Amino acid sequence: MFDAYGRNIHYLRLSVTDLCNLRCRYCMPDGVPKLAHEDILTYEEFLRLAALFAQCGIDTVRITGGEPLVRRGVEQLTAGLKAIPGIRRVALTTNGVLLAQKLPALLAAGLDSVNISLDTLHPETFRRITGKDELAAVQNGIRAALASGIPVKLNCVPQPGVNEGELESLAALAQEHPLQVRFIEMMPIGFGAGLPGLSGPKLLERFCRRWPQLQPVTGAAFGDGPAVYYSAPGWRGSIGLIAAVHGKFCASCNRVRLTSQGFLRPCLASESGTDLRALLRSGADDAALLQAIQNTILAKPREHHFGQGSMPATRGMYRIGG
Ligand code: GTP
Ligand code: 5AD
Ligand code: SF4
Repeated sequence: MFDAYGRNIHYLRLSVTDLCNLRCRYCMPDGVPKLAHEDILTYEEFLRLAALFAQCGIDTVRITGGEPLVRRGVEQLTAGLKAIPGIRRVALTTNGVLLAQKLPALLAAGLDSVNISLDTLHPETFRRITGKDELAAVQNGIRAALASGIPVKLNCVPQPGVNEGELESLAALAQEHPLQVRFIEMMPIGFGAGLPGLSGPKLLERFCRRWPQLQPVTGAAFGDGPAVYYSAPGWRGSIGLIAAVHGKFCASCNRVRLTSQGFLRPCLASESGTDLRALLRSGADDAALLQAIQNTILAKPREHHFGQGSMPATRGMYRIGG
């Protein structure tokens, strides 16, 4: 359906858990309190809501977290989502640690594509960023995903003084492999607030100096998310820039988010939204839920205001689902 600013909202991001097996410095460092089990929506609840979202025109669902693969049964959820009339694509955003192990069942369930976080190629830097020694597991996950033939995107958050020196090496993965390597500006959300990032335009300049033949690329394969893609002759993949702070893409936003607690957030960077869990658990019928979903989409803010104060850590990425 269209929102009040004429944007076609057809993409739902489902955060299925706030838990994670990593502790990224900009997302959920140690000591983040965990939600009570009963506060998290069951898969039945997610599927009931997803069917109503599909009636509102949602055709793409991305499963996120926290780390979605730490919740048991994501395969069944994937299959359940794929069975909903109107939902054409189900994608996953993961840190990759459990991916190699879970991929066969996810593919059997109909998973269409996967985005995997990869901030570094060095084990020590990986530990510094994530608090854990899981780089090899992530790399296995990436290999398994590439071998399966589904579309693979990598997500890297450039962090000055941490992984800044290896961004060309990360980008070069797209030269050799058929994947998209995306660089995301650090967003002042949760623990990301106050951490320095690198601006997309600056990074692009840097990559263009290294590879003068880089040219913008567009097309169905690149989806209609916030990333802008570049590639060069002979490359098997491409580089993507997600300039979340410097290059506002709110005017073409196509998405809403449902947190693991069933809170529908029409915008990543706004506190506004609707507690669908409360409605659901108070016995609301489908018509009432549908109305609540439509009203929330209609109230989607026009744009974010990252520049003006940041969101509290309790609303960190691991709660919103990126
Ligand atoms: P594709 O549909 O494959 O392009 O995925 P995506 O880039 O939307 O999803 P992914 O989960 O891989 O997210 C990559 C980064 O983009 C994360 O840091 C997200 O927080 C960020 N992102 C995704 N959607 C939005 C958005 O609407 N606004 C902002 N500011 N950032 C977003
Ligand atoms: N700013 C930018 N990206 C972030 N991510 C998590 N927190 C932030 C932040 N504050 C990224 C993760 C992951 C993606 C889904 O979101 O690195 O790759
Ligand atoms: Fe976990 Fe992803 Fe957050 Fe890192 S960025 S702590 S992998 S949810």
